[in-house]
Amino acid sequence: MAEHVYIERIADYVGHEVTVKGWLYAKTDKGKLQFLQVRDGTGIVQCIVFKKSVAPEQFEIAQRLTQESSLIVTGVVRADERAPGIPGGYEIDVGDLQVVQLVTEEYPISPKEHGVDFLMQHRHLWIRSSRQWAVLRVRATIIKAIRDWLDSHGFILMDTPILTPAACEGTTTLFETNYHGTPAYLSQSGQLYNEATIMAFGRVYCFGPTFRAEKSKTRRHIQEFWMVEPEAAYVDMWQNMEIQEQFVSYLVQTTLQTRAAELKLLGRDVSRLEKVEPPFPRLHYDEAVAMINKAAAAGAVVPPNDEPVPPISWGDDFGAPHETYVAEQFEKPVFVHHYPTAAKAFYMAQEPDRPETCRSSDLLAPEGYGEIIGGGERSSDLAFLEAQIERHRLPREAYEWYLDLRRFGSVPHSGFGLGVERTVMWICGLNHIRETIPFPRLLGRIYP
Ligand code: 4AD
Ligand code: MG
Repeated sequence: MAEHVYIERIADYVGHEVTVKGWLYAKTDKGKLQFLQVRDGTGIVQCIVFKKSVAPEQFEIAQRLTQESSLIVTGVVRADERAPGIPGGYEIDVGDLQVVQLVTEEYPISPKEHGVDFLMQHRHLWIRSSRQWAVLRVRATIIKAIRDWLDSHGFILMDTPILTPAACEGTTTLFETNYHGTPAYLSQSGQLYNEATIMAFGRVYCFGPTFRAEKSKTRRHIQEFWMVEPEAAYVDMWQNMEIQEQFVSYLVQTTLQTRAAELKLLGRDVSRLEKVEPPFPRLHYDEAVAMINKAAAAGAVVPPNDEPVPPISWGDDFGAPHETYVAEQFEKPVFVHHYPTAAKAFYMAQEPDRPETCRSSDLLAPEGYGEIIGGGERSSDLAFLEAQIERHRLPREAYEWYLDLRRFGSVPHSGFGLGVERTVMWICGLNHIRETIPFPRLLGRIYP
C-alpha cells in the first residue's frame, strides 16, 4: 500500500501514489468511469475509478458503492483545477479499491431536503455533512485561538468546579442535582472561583462547559454551552474592555486566516469580519436606550425577520431586537457599558457617582448575532456584597468563602465570559446556535 495521506495535504502529493482512507460522500456513475467523492475527515477528494485500471471485482464493487460506505483507495494524485472537493483541484486516478464496510441500508441523510427535527434526531450522522463539518472545524480553531491568546498573554488556566453549591448568574436557570443528599447545581459560570484564584495567580481563566436551564426556545440559547472566562486583579472596567477587544480581534483574524476554505464553503461574507480590529466603539447604556427609543418611535425593524424594535424603559435589560438594532449601528462589535445595577448580577461594582448603574459591559456582535461577551468590574466592597446577597435572596452560607475574598486583601478586579457557541455562530454566519456544537442540548431534546 502507498503512503496513507490526509486529503487536506493532498496538494503536496501531485504525481505520487497515495492511499486515502475514508467514506463515500457521493458518487457519479458514467459507465466505464465511476467518480467517487471520498471524504476522510480532513477534506473531500474526487477519486476516478476507470474500468481498465482496476481488477474486475473492484470495478464491480465501485459501481455498487453506497453513500457512507467506508473504503480505502490507492492511486496517483493529479492536479485539475475543475475537480470538485475540499480543498478541490485534485483528483486521484484509482489503482486499488478496498471496501471496509458496504452500507446496505439507505443512508438517512441523503442529499434531499430534511426538516430540522429530523436532522437533530440524526445529529450523530448529520455532522458528516460538509456544512456541519466546516462549522465544527471553525469551532475547534476558535477554541485553539482562545487558549493560544490567553496562554501567551499571562493568563493561567485554573479549572473551576462543575458541581457547585451556589448560583453565579441568578437562581432561575439553575440545573439542580443531588450531591449525596445535598442539593448541588451544575455551574452557570466559573467566575466566582476565578475571583478566588486571581488573588493567588493575578490573571487566570477557566474554560469549560456551563449550564443554564433556559426555559424558552431562541436562536441564541442552549442549555449547555462552553464559556471562556478570563479574570484579572487590579484591572478596572475600561482596561477589561481593552483586553476584550484585543482578544476578540485575534479570534476573528486567526479564524479568517486558518479557516478560509471552511468559511467559503459556508458562504460567509467575510468583509465585515475583516474589519474586526481594535478599538471597538463604546456606548453608555443611557445612550443605547435613547438610540433604541428613537428607533422604536420611527418604526424601525431588525433582521432577519423585520421584527419591530420595541420601546424600552430605563432599567430594563435588552431583548434580542434591541441588541440587534444597537449592534447594526456599528461596523464592529460594540460595547454597551454601565447597565442598571438592578438588571445585572449581584457581584457587579456600582459606579460611585451613579450607584443605580454598574461597571458592567456587554459586547454585542454585528449583523444581529447579539451578546457574545458579558463582563465587568466586580465589587470589592464587603458590606455592599453582603447587602446584595440578601437583596437577591441568595443563601448567605454558600457565599461565605466568596466574602472572605473581600476580607483578605480585596482589590479592584474585572473579568468577562465569552460564549463559544455565540462566537462560532457569528463568525460562521449561522442563523441558529444548534449547529455550533457537536451535540447541542436544546430545550426538550437530549437525544442523541
Ligand atoms: O452574560 P453572562 O451570563 O455572564 C456570565 O456568566 C459572567 N459570569 C461571565 C464573567 O464575567 N466571567 O454569560 C456570558 C456569555 C454571554 O455573553 C453569551 O455569549 C454566553 O455566555 N451565554 C450563552 N450562550 C449560549 N446559550 C446560553 N444559554 C447562554 N447564556 C450565556
Ligand atoms: Mg449577559
